[in-house]
Amino acid sequence: MKMLVANWKMAPETESIALRLAKATFTAAQKYKKSLAVIACVPYIYLSPIKKGVRALTLGVQGIAPGVDSAATGMVSVAMVKNIGAAYAIVGHSESRARGDTPEVVKAQLDLVLAKRMTPILCVGEKERDNQGWYLCTVKEQLETSLAKVPKATLKNIIIAYEPVWAIGKDATRQATPSECREMIIFIRKIVTDLYDKKLAASMRIIYGGSVDEGNAARYLDEGSADGLLVGRVSLDAKKFAKLAASII
Ligand code: PGA
Repeated sequence: MKMLVANWKMAPETESIALRLAKATFTAAQKYKKSLAVIACVPYIYLSPIKKGVRALTLGVQGIAPGVDSAATGMVSVAMVKNIGAAYAIVGHSESRARGDTPEVVKAQLDLVLAKRMTPILCVGEKERDNQGWYLCTVKEQLETSLAKVPKATLKNIIIAYEPVWAIGKDATRQATPSECREMIIFIRKIVTDLYDKKLAASMRIIYGGSVDEGNAARYLDEGSADGLLVGRVSLDAKKFAKLAASII
């Protein structure tokens, strides 16, 4: 089953637009449910109305507090989102890391999400590519810190999202090529093999994100060997998102 994860980020601005978008996202999910698992990672504020209005849409959030102490002004806990019905949580997105989420914070979030039996979508990716291959070390470090002490039996619940920072969002310098995606996915499986074993590494779900659209999506899966996609901007455009889903079934 391929995965298609919508990352709405800090959009849309109203609940009625969010509900419309959720309905359209669910329509696409239903249409292709035999081969595609669609997950919408929405802003916290829309979790509850969407859960009520579009009950069967699989929901996720884009981060959680790194602790459980309720004296944490402005934060939202993993228990809160789980109790509303979120099943997935993005952790370590580069935009969250850029706002100050350290590797330790990302690790704490990952462990909390796993402990609540939700599925973490762990984002890794380098800020820039160099010719010496140092970007591989960045991803290795991110993985090693986050996966430290994660038991073998729990590992299969994690989804890894390779998101090269330079290919994300409107400031992307360019799109990643499918072969760059493939190289990194092979590398990630190698790291997981070194940390665990080959069988686990082979079964790990590794998805790709960064300027994915209805024109390039299929290539990241076919040539890039990704198990799914994490989609930002295009997930906010119902028509394009439906086209993207159709292009990868
Ligand atoms: P983008 O965002 O598709 O708009 O590049 C992807 C992401 O940040 O997850």
